[in-house]
Parts: sequence; C-alpha cells; structure tokens
Amino acid sequence: MSAISNYADALPRMLAAGEPPSRISTLVRAIRTQASRASTIITQARELVGGGPDTFRECDVLQVIYSSIEMTERLARAADVEIRFAAQSTLPACRGHAGQLEQILVNLIGNAIEAVADSDIRAIRIHAESLEGRALRIRVADSGPGVPADDLQAIFQAFRSGGDGMGMGLAVSRQLAEYHGGQLWAEPDRERGACFVLDLPAYIASSDAESGAAS
Ligand SMILES: Nc1ncnc2c1ncn2[C@@H]1O[C@H](COP(=O)(O)OP(=O)(O)OP(=O)(O)O)[C@@H](O)[C@H]1O
Ligand SMILES: [Mg+2]
Repeated sequence: MSAISNYADALPRMLAAGEPPSRISTLVRAIRTQASRASTIITQARELVGGGPDTFRECDVLQVIYSSIEMTERLARAADVEIRFAAQSTLPACRGHAGQLEQILVNLIGNAIEAVADSDIRAIRIHAESLEGRALRIRVADSGPGVPADDLQAIFQAFRSGGDGMGMGLAVSRQLAEYHGGQLWAEPDRERGACFVLDLPAYIASSDAESGAAS
C-alpha cells in the first residue's frame, strides 16, 4: 500500500517535470502490479479471517455493533468524538462472519471519526432497525461536512481517498456487505453530515428453533 502511495505521489511530479511517456507508463505499470498484489493480499486475508459463506453462521447484530464501537472507542476518545447507539428492541439475527461485519462498521466509524475532526459538534449516531423482520438496517451518521452529491458513488471505488488514507475502507466494506448478501451505500440529500447505510438480510430461524426459544 505504501508503495502505491509513493508511486502515486511521484506521478504528478514526473508529469510536471515533463518526463518521457515511457517512464510514466513504467510507473503506472508498477502501480498496477502493486494494486493487484494488494488485492490478492486482501482476498487472502478475508479468507483467513472468515472463510467463505459456507462458514457463515447466525450472528447477533447487537453484539457486532457493540464490539465495533469498543474497537473504535480509543480512537473516538482521543479525537473527543461522542458515539451514540440506539436500536429497535427486537432485531432479527443475521447470517455471516462476525469479524467481517465488524470490519465494515469499524471502517465506517473510523471514517466518521476522521470526518468530524474539524467540526464544532463531534458526534456519531449509530442506529439499528429491523425491516419488517426480513432485513436489518444499520445507519452510521455523523456531524461532519458530509459527502458531496457527486462523490456518493466514487467514494466506494478503491484508492479514492479524500484524505491521507489509502481509500480502501469503503471499497472493502461494500465488498464484504455484498459478500453477506447485503448492501452498503451513502445516503444522498442530507442537510448535514454523512450517513452510511448497511442493509443485511435477516437470518430466519427454522420454526423448530423458534418454538424452542419461546418455551
Ligand atoms: N463519514 C464521512 N464523511 C465525509 N466523507 C467521507 C466519510 N467517509 C468516507 N468519506 C470520504 O470517502 C473517502 C474514501 O473513504 P475510504 O474509507 O474508502 O478511504 P480512506 O478512509 O480515505 O482510507 P482507508 O479507509 O483506506 O484508510 C474518504 O477519504 C473521504 O473523503
Ligand atoms: Mg476509511
């Protein structure tokens, strides 16, 4: 990743210096090679932490959210950011890999912490609700400057960082959401702050399991 960053930083300098096209294309090829290496590493890491959908199991979404908040707590405290969480009283479970789902939320919360750094109000609101028992919707909203309407799609492309990061967080998060049969997007038309929405299909337990739980 840092190799890609260094090459990308060098590119405008080389263009400004009028370097010949052959040198520029060598550099672009080097970026391409490092990017596909990074992509392979990410795929392997994903398999390492979670395996494929055949290893997915029932996940308690509240637990996933609490763990994600806990993992980002230190960062939030250091940046003086308040994280508030509210959830509907009855939430269905989902099916997946808890570590991968946490990774999505940790990325979203991490981005939100960065986004609100320069705001007077530094707050993140996380909300979880059931969509008629068939799906779960988790919102991560912040009090930062928000995402310009033109960027709502582009921010999910890899290496599109608006800051000092690699620009991988949202690309990986969307991939993980889709891997779980869900969706991740940034909400448009907001008056203030950004809001990212993660939908996940609910895990419908068999009727045997339900009657067992009720007894
Ligand atoms: N909550 C947010 N508010 C405003 N802009 C955001 C928010 N979240 C993401 N963005 C914008 O989207 C860009 C891409 O986010 P992404 O998480 O993919 O990359 P990154 O945070 O820059 O780097 P990385 O996650 O790889 O460390 C960010 O650089 C930022 O410009
Ligand atoms: Mg990020």
